Amino acid sequence: MALWSGRFEGGPADEMLAYSESLSTDLLMWEEDITGSKAHATMLCEVGLLDESERDEILAGLDRVADDLRGGWVPGIDQEDIHMAVEGRLAEHIGPVAGKLHTARSRNDQVATDVRLWLRARIDRLDAVLARLVAALADRAESDGRTLVPGYTHLQRGQPVWLGHTLLAYAWSFARDRERLADCRRRVNQSPLGSAAMAGTPHPIDRARTAELLGFEGVMDNAMDGVSARDHVIEATSACAIAAVHLSRLAEELVLWSTAEFGFVRLSESWSTGSSIMPQKRNPDAAELVRGKTGQVVGALSALLVLVKGLPMAYNRDFQEDRPSLFTAVHTTLASASVMAGCIESMEIRGGPSLVGSFALATELADHLASRGVPFREAHHVSGSLVKRCEALGVGLDTLSLDDLRAAHPAFGDDALAWLDPEAAVERRTSTGGTAWSEITRQVTKLRDSLARV
Ligand code: ARG
Repeated sequence: MALWSGRFEGGPADEMLAYSESLSTDLLMWEEDITGSKAHATMLCEVGLLDESERDEILAGLDRVADDLRGGWVPGIDQEDIHMAVEGRLAEHIGPVAGKLHTARSRNDQVATDVRLWLRARIDRLDAVLARLVAALADRAESDGRTLVPGYTHLQRGQPVWLGHTLLAYAWSFARDRERLADCRRRVNQSPLGSAAMAGTPHPIDRARTAELLGFEGVMDNAMDGVSARDHVIEATSACAIAAVHLSRLAEELVLWSTAEFGFVRLSESWSTGSSIMPQKRNPDAAELVRGKTGQVVGALSALLVLVKGLPMAYNRDFQEDRPSLFTAVHTTLASASVMAGCIESMEIRGGPSLVGSFALATELADHLASRGVPFREAHHVSGSLVKRCEALGVGLDTLSLDDLRAAHPAFGDDALAWLDPEAAVERRTSTGGTAWSEITRQVTKLRDSLARV
């Protein structure tokens, strides 16, 4: 018999029970449900709504329910959700006094509380795994990022860079993902408990006390908002979706970089798989799965936005559908970030193609002229004409002589050919955020500081 069965003659159809239960999802947050109930019972006693022996019975009973769940007890789906399952089991253990626990509370504020507690803890885990990824990228950039590779735009060779420059570009995205989550965490960490169904309660509860017991930073000011707000769920999923998209971009790099065509890296055996027919294969499945699973996280964000759109105040049963999306987004992002950290930590960095004479150095010729007072637009045109000429001859820029350069423009200086050295090209870019190694080490230090801080 359901805990709300008083005004009913019969009960829901079996199909309705199966359709409407959230227990199978809620079981992932049973610990939060019990933690919330304990705080509520503690507060009820402090304000005189439970006497001490009732409180002690309830707290001990909740511990027994926790033992049951930890030991593998699985409630039947006639319990509908985790809140009813826990309370029902509590009643089996301690009898009618269990019914006092629900004073000044509703499943509406209970579920809101549980989800916030669950999410707060997962945000902390996400932060830790993203920090590990940032550290891995910074470490690899520092230890073997001094490897020349082409930097691409439009996936066409653009300018030479140290591979570390690219690795750190990703590190900064993940550093911002951590900031986004930290910001979201502040809004998650507000207590809805004591909102009851939506209207508050006539009982003399102390919401600040339950908030304090549960480690919330404050109490939500409006009871209707307390039970109906889901923006924190959307926001956390959005932060996950952005992080997952960053992970997917990095995954795509690893897929490309580990090809024979690029060959910048070789993924470790731990994060590769073979083929059942082609014996030579070493496939980047981990990276491909990170790329593929991102779809679920992005989909979860859409599902949540559509779920909440158009819902009137206050609680609507639709809200129950927030958890499959939220849980999927969080679990997938956590797992993908961890897998990606493993790939980065263990990959072998092999180096890029030779860039001597590469057209990726064409900008150097233009910059050389510009440094000698030639307007950059004109310099760009001159360099382009030299590329055109070399391309027609099927040769690289390194075949040009100083006379060839001066025939194209008289302002080329004696040191012009030295500008075509790929390493010199990279090291010349000492502007803040440029490719010079000094800039890479500066960023590594700054990223490591942020790891200690957030
Ligand atoms: N299972 C519900 C959920 O997950 C709990 C709240 C139910 N409240 C209600 N009025 N039916 O959202």
